[in-house]
Amino acid sequence: MLKARYLCCGTAAAVLATGVALAAPPKERQDELIYQLRQDCGSCHGMTLKGGLGPPLVPAAVAGKSDETLVEVILHGLPGTPMGPWAFEISREEAAWLVRRMKEGL
Ligand code: HEC
Repeated sequence: MLKARYLCCGTAAAVLATGVALAAPPKERQDELIYQLRQDCGSCHGMTLKGGLGPPLVPAAVAGKSDETLVEVILHGLPGTPMGPWAFEISREEAAWLVRRMKEGL
């Protein structure tokens, strides 16, 4: 019976099933992450995330991509491209939270 919840479809269930917690980080950490998104990520993706060396990370640009794919890209980067891995300082939960911010717009 316990297994039943993993059989359910839909994004939220899929994200939960792959272990990404949906809880938001504490407020101070949220501020740090948004700062990092604008500064570090912004150095390639643009300060307003509209794109630069890296593609735009605004809602219209990431809407069609799955949360899980975007989280994986943030954590592990895209080998062979300038997009590096961030898992050394951004946790999976934090990356999932950032993806939601990107999808909703900063
Ligand atoms: C050194 C430049 C650079 C930095 C810094 C950087 N990125 Fe990227 N990022 C890229 C490039 C280039 C790509 C596209 C790679 C490709 O597909 O060719 C990319 C791709 C991505 C994608 C996939 C976008 C899509 O539409 O599929 C996400 C999500 C992303 N980056 C998030 C981040 C986040 C979050 C940070 C900061 C923690 C960050 N990036 C920092 C260069 C960068």
